[in-house]
Amino acid sequence: MASDQVLGRQNLSILAGVRPMVAEDVPHVSAIEQQASPHPWRESQFLESVSKHHCLVLTLEAEIIGYAVYTIVVGEAEILNIAVHPSDQGKGYGRQLLDHLMTIVSEQAERFFLEVRASNHSAIHLYQDVGFVEICLRRNYYQTSSGPEDAIVMAIDFHFGL
Ligand SMILES: CC(C)(COP(=O)(O)OP(=O)(O)OC[C@H]1O[C@@H](n2cnc3c(N)ncnc32)[C@H](O)[C@@H]1OP(=O)(O)O)[C@@H](O)C(=O)NCCC(=O)NCCS
Repeated sequence: MASDQVLGRQNLSILAGVRPMVAEDVPHVSAIEQQASPHPWRESQFLESVSKHHCLVLTLEAEIIGYAVYTIVVGEAEILNIAVHPSDQGKGYGRQLLDHLMTIVSEQAERFFLEVRASNHSAIHLYQDVGFVEICLRRNYYQTSSGPEDAIVMAIDFHFGL
């Protein structure tokens, strides 16, 4: 049985850690992205983000199982990418990574945005659960092989702290 199943979700933090992403992590991160995202970023996009944006990796016993890329510009933060390896999804790691991110961002920004595909119900549920609310819908924003898809823009305000 996997160790996280034995310990339960509340104890994931004992095993999982979060640290800044470095360029050497990008091949591993990119490999996860290919499996986790229907429209994966290229490796070059992660490399560019390591130098231009804020990037974190979520590790489990030193192995990368997830990552987040975000920006903070004049008090406004935005998630550009966040994912957990498919074989580790649904175990509480995405929530742990997002909680960590929100703690960091709440100290540096007043508003935190993200954009999510309207069909991505698991991600939308997670974002709502931690306090993000829908602020607008961008119709037909994404072009997919099965046709256009709406984007939902969500935000959380940190004016009064978390
Ligand atoms: C979105 C994502 C990061 C969430 O990470 P995760 O580790 O799977 O999420 P968690 O296990 O922490 O679950 C958090 C919540 O997400 C929702 N969720 C997770 N997996 C789900 C599933 N298969 N079906 C429905 N809801 C699900 C649940 O609401 C869950 O809440 P709960 O703890 O009350 O059950 C992950 O699913 C992922 O990498 N998806 C592919 C990439 C992606 O879509 N990124 C977001 C782009 S905006």
